[in-house]
Amino acid sequence: MPITVTPFDAGIGADVSGLDLARITPAEAATVKEAWIAHQVLRFRGQKLDDDAMADFSGYFGEPEKAPIGFKNRNYMTDRPEVTVISNIKIDGEAIGGLGDGEAEWHSDMTYIDMPPDASALYALEVPPAGGNTWFMDMYHAYESLPDDMKRRLEGLTCKHDATRSSDGRLRQGYSESYSREELPGAVHPLAIRHPESGRTALYLGRRLNAHVMELPPTESEELLDMLWGHLYENARVWTQQWQVGDLVMWDNRCTMHRRDAFDPASRRLMHRTQIRGSAKPVAA
Ligand code: OGA
Ligand code: MN
Repeated sequence: MPITVTPFDAGIGADVSGLDLARITPAEAATVKEAWIAHQVLRFRGQKLDDDAMADFSGYFGEPEKAPIGFKNRNYMTDRPEVTVISNIKIDGEAIGGLGDGEAEWHSDMTYIDMPPDASALYALEVPPAGGNTWFMDMYHAYESLPDDMKRRLEGLTCKHDATRSSDGRLRQGYSESYSREELPGAVHPLAIRHPESGRTALYLGRRLNAHVMELPPTESEELLDMLWGHLYENARVWTQQWQVGDLVMWDNRCTMHRRDAFDPASRRLMHRTQIRGSAKPVAA
């Protein structure tokens, strides 16, 4: 079957058909990689992937990250250390995976470390009847649609990305509620970055909570970030994934953000997830 890449009307993301990801060849993977750099998010429907297949497929896009020590508990176990679990399902009262059933606000993954992951992939094993959609935002478009004076204003500016909270807003283990601006744990990255593979400029925000612009006093930093986020809410180019069992969605973490809708806690959602280790520190555009 020929590989078909069908871009979504949203202007970000594409469906890829004609591929069995459990049996992908290096030549097919190269085609997928090219489409992925071009479209930022790819969806593959109707896949049947065990953990070996998911880890092996992910390996074509870089080095799959093993779950950090302490992340895996008895219930998180998959067949491969590269494959982790996102789920609200509980066994004996204990969640088998991360992120629960609540809303996850707009974010890129783990931008609070110096070399954030290049990519992440989610594979749907169980989906709730409603809710739990995942939204993806085009951060090239976010930058390109800024007025020229705002683009110039971003030159040389960097932002602190908060390490203390997870995507569902919860305080991570080992961190306290309040830090001074100076002491906030996290990483500092340019606000506008150059994508190492496409060469295009992306707005790089990570997430809103506790973010601050290093070169500006607190009030001006808040004003600038509010303005940028306000611009996103008005101009965002967004595609929404409504999950079906067998969907695999892989996103480029350097030029997209994502969020997730809440869903009924009484329903089950089970995803297997891989993440590709960062290959470079984000560099200023
Ligand atoms: C993630 C994430 C959203 C979802 O895995 O990084 O944000 O839809 N997941 O579960
Ligand atoms: Mn995420």
